[in-house]
Amino acid sequence: MRAAAMALALVALSCLARAQTACNPADLGCALFNGEHPMAAHLRDDDRPLPSWTTRCVNCHVGTSKAQAFAPPLTHDTLLAATRRRGGPISHYDATAFCHAVKDGIDPAGVMLRKSMPRYQITDDQCMALWQFVMHR
Ligand code: HEC
Repeated sequence: MRAAAMALALVALSCLARAQTACNPADLGCALFNGEHPMAAHLRDDDRPLPSWTTRCVNCHVGTSKAQAFAPPLTHDTLLAATRRRGGPISHYDATAFCHAVKDGIDPAGVMLRKSMPRYQITDDQCMALWQFVMHR
């Protein structure tokens, strides 16, 4: 009985692990986030297109602990939290603010993001798909 429970737990864990890398083909936001769909992007003050393998959100926003992250976690809880970001006044994200950050590099309080966050040339539909995806993380 115990062994069966352990086996089930292991299967559940391995499904979770796979879910991080393999997207449901219908989930555009997941495919964009994980780089299965290339996205055009460039760095601030530099119009040269970045190589597509460098622009996957997952490269920078996953796998770092909150304390010492290179890039902040993008989840429902972190984005909706009303908090001070980058020394600005208290703010929180919504879909519009999220897309402003992703496309123009400006956060909801109007503070400019660091240059290491690329600026993306994506459509509104693609940005909404990304927003929906991160809201379920
Ligand atoms: C090359 C690394 C890199 C990639 C790729 C990247 N980001 Fe970022 N991103 C950053 C860094 C670094 C910051 C923090 C900037 C700051 O604090 O000034 C950031 C910040 C953000 C923020 C602001 C979060 C907050 O808490 O205020 C959002 C939203 C965001 N990124 C979305 C995305 C999305 C969506 C993608 C993929 C389309 C992406 N990023 C890809 C590095 C990256």
